[in-house]
Amino acid sequence: MNDLARRYELFGRVEAPGYRELTEGIAADPAILSLIAALPAPKQQPNLLFAAVRFLGGPVTAYPAFSSFVRQSWDAVRATMLARSTQTNEAARCAALLPALCLLDGPLALIEVGASAGLCLYPDRYGYRYPGRELGPQEGAFTCEVTGPAPLPDRLPEVVWRVGVDLNPLDVRDPDAVAWLRALVWPWQPERLANLERAVAVVAQDPPRLVRGDLNECVAGLVAEAPEEATVVVFHTAVLPYLSEAERERFAATMRALPCHWLANEGPARQPWVRLPYPPPADRAVMALVLDGRPLAFAGPHGQSLSWFA
Ligand SMILES: C[S@@+](CC[C@H](N)C(=O)[O-])C[C@H]1O[C@@H](n2cnc3c(N)ncnc32)[C@H](O)[C@@H]1O
Repeated sequence: MNDLARRYELFGRVEAPGYRELTEGIAADPAILSLIAALPAPKQQPNLLFAAVRFLGGPVTAYPAFSSFVRQSWDAVRATMLARSTQTNEAARCAALLPALCLLDGPLALIEVGASAGLCLYPDRYGYRYPGRELGPQEGAFTCEVTGPAPLPDRLPEVVWRVGVDLNPLDVRDPDAVAWLRALVWPWQPERLANLERAVAVVAQDPPRLVRGDLNECVAGLVAEAPEEATVVVFHTAVLPYLSEAERERFAATMRALPCHWLANEGPARQPWVRLPYPPPADRAVMALVLDGRPLAFAGPHGQSLSWFA
């Protein structure tokens, strides 16, 4: 099995089990693998291929139907993969961020790097359901399982300023952008689609300021702009995989030097500078929630669980 086949097989086995039939099919299909291999490296991502096929109305369940759609519609699939990128915006990740944000004295000024449409910039506007603790509006609240001594907040944080930066900011008022965000939600997870629709409705009422640019170029300027009377927090979730190792190291060095808090919710392997108290589970993907370099918890990749460190 070559590296690309292994990458697809791993994605279905560990990250996205609902795509497993497709990833196993692709891993054993030299014709489809060679189409994907001809794309630029950042565009070979499994999630991007499946979202592009869904965006074009193609089937993503049985492998024979999927592979014949990909072969027959390759020009359109390829063009979609080249024009767009994986910008999955998962507002429910706020359920993982919230206890960490509430460890800080407010009011907060939030800067999200790799913000996509900025849905995670509104942790103060959503509802949450933790075991034994409900916060915010409960209709469609984000449910988060918790283990360990998580300091669950008893109120939502006060956010007085918020801004996002992204290579390609998406506007929740643009139907094409929202259609792409929908295609990125895995089809076997209707609750995530419902979360997306609700978050889009919340954010569309008061869209955030989103700056177009590279996080390494923009972050220091945004920290300097933040109101002095607020506690400034730069945060990011599911962004570091899109940076090269050198870009990640540069970002980490910048963050260590900036006069602000730094909250990361990223895969453990993307934060090699963090010393985790336990090894991450081998059989499922997790994020490591890290505040100012201190590991706090493992979080479910879509904010569905928190496993707080003792
Ligand atoms: C998977 S999405 C995550 C979005 C959001 N943080 C969330 O968790 O819902 C990753 C985002 O990071 C952005 N991104 C990737 N590399 C970036 C960079 N160098 N500078 C700014 N944004 C970047 C992408 O455009 C994309 O919108």
